[in-house]
Amino acid sequence: MSRPTSRLLVAIDGPAASGKGTLARRVAGHFGLPHLDTGLLYRAVGWLAGHRGLDPAAAAAGLAMADLAEPGLRGDEAGQAASKVAAIPEVRANLLKFQKDFAAQASGAVLDGRDIGTVICPEAPVKLFVTASLEARADRRYRELRERGVETIRPRVLAEMAERDRRDSERAAAPMKAAPDAYLLDTSDMDADAAFAAAVAFIERKGFRPPGP
Ligand code: CDP
Repeated sequence: MSRPTSRLLVAIDGPAASGKGTLARRVAGHFGLPHLDTGLLYRAVGWLAGHRGLDPAAAAAGLAMADLAEPGLRGDEAGQAASKVAAIPEVRANLLKFQKDFAAQASGAVLDGRDIGTVICPEAPVKLFVTASLEARADRRYRELRERGVETIRPRVLAEMAERDRRDSERAAAPMKAAPDAYLLDTSDMDADAAFAAAVAFIERKGFRPPGP
């Protein structure tokens, strides 16, 4: 295969705890690309709306780097709040330019989220849609929360995840879905290393290689 002339732009989408965040970080490291976790933007908007009483669309328009450093953004409460504000079209519109600018860097980039391959970077030469069964994802998130010392029970984690999946895939504005040309990676029976190896093999089949020494 001839070497592609385009820069490497990788769009990674998928539901909660599918492994897309870990995969995106590792793919970015391997290919020497900057990485944007777009979920963090929606988490920050949900947080500013809930904790500072800001209007979500205004919070999205005025989002600053410092807002992304709030430690509470990683928790499940922030995930639910994110999923609620993410259904508001003005919030999505106000976050669009930042994401598109990030994707347009000359270096190339890796972005992960729910609508990267469909709305933010439909032109990306590499699109991955990372899934796993609801059971496998709930197990992962439950273990992760316990390791962080968060008191919870598995049925609650599973119910909240199912609710968030439903909200994210049924909303009218940029619902979570795989782009028609996305590579589907089901990680139900894969660990992070296997998912990473499968993604790198797919990207290399497209003719992209990591930067040389
Ligand atoms: O890490 P996890 O998959 O649990 O969530 P996340 O990627 O941080 O995203 C949190 C929420 O933000 C999702 O449930 C979506 O509702 C929303 N989101 C979105 O609508 N579009 C994106 N590109 C990224 C996140």
